[in-house]
Amino acid sequence: MSNGERSEMKALIVFYSRTGTTRKVAESISKALSCDLEEVFDTKNRAGPLSFITAGRDAAQKRLTVIRDPKMDPRVYDIIVIGTPVWAGTVSSPIRTYITQKREYFKRVAFFCTVGGTGTDKTLETMKDLCGKDPVASLWITTKQTKSEQYLKKTDEFVDKIKREASRL
Ligand SMILES: Cc1cc2nc3c(=O)[nH]c(=O)nc-3n(C[C@H](O)[C@H](O)[C@H](O)COP(=O)(O)O)c2cc1C
Repeated sequence: MSNGERSEMKALIVFYSRTGTTRKVAESISKALSCDLEEVFDTKNRAGPLSFITAGRDAAQKRLTVIRDPKMDPRVYDIIVIGTPVWAGTVSSPIRTYITQKREYFKRVAFFCTVGGTGTDKTLETMKDLCGKDPVASLWITTKQTKSEQYLKKTDEFVDKIKREASRL
């Protein structure tokens, strides 16, 4: 399965990205898994320095937001791979909202997050609690790591774990 063979598992990657880091990782994973990609869009303006403060507060207070209607139906996928930036040491509000809206349709899950430096454990744990499911794989990558090809080794390991799960189907 790790030799490029396409898995039979139907996977969907769902991610939110405010400044492109989580998008970059999501795109690498989607390429490696040859699977569909869903970007979550927040209707709340998250651009600029002031919104950094409100975004951090929203995340810390576990607030939900209003996201654009997702295009893909999670019910038709064997696994949903969910990616978020770490906000105030936890999951971003758009991804908290997506999970809350769609979790009843998830069969299996895997999680990844991107981070400046700290907060990955709580973020991944919160995603697990929100989904009510243990992930088949989880991954965190720092913003700095995404600047070099180095991060691809970590994504490869993550993708291999997901493919191993597929081989058990
Ligand atoms: C509102 C906000 C809060 C953040 N909080 C943290 C944090 O608690 N710990 C951390 O290491 N990085 C934190 N960061 C940095 C982001 O997690 C990191 O830059 C991430 O890779 C950004 O992903 P994106 O480009 O996909 O939005 C925060 C960023 C934002 C915008």
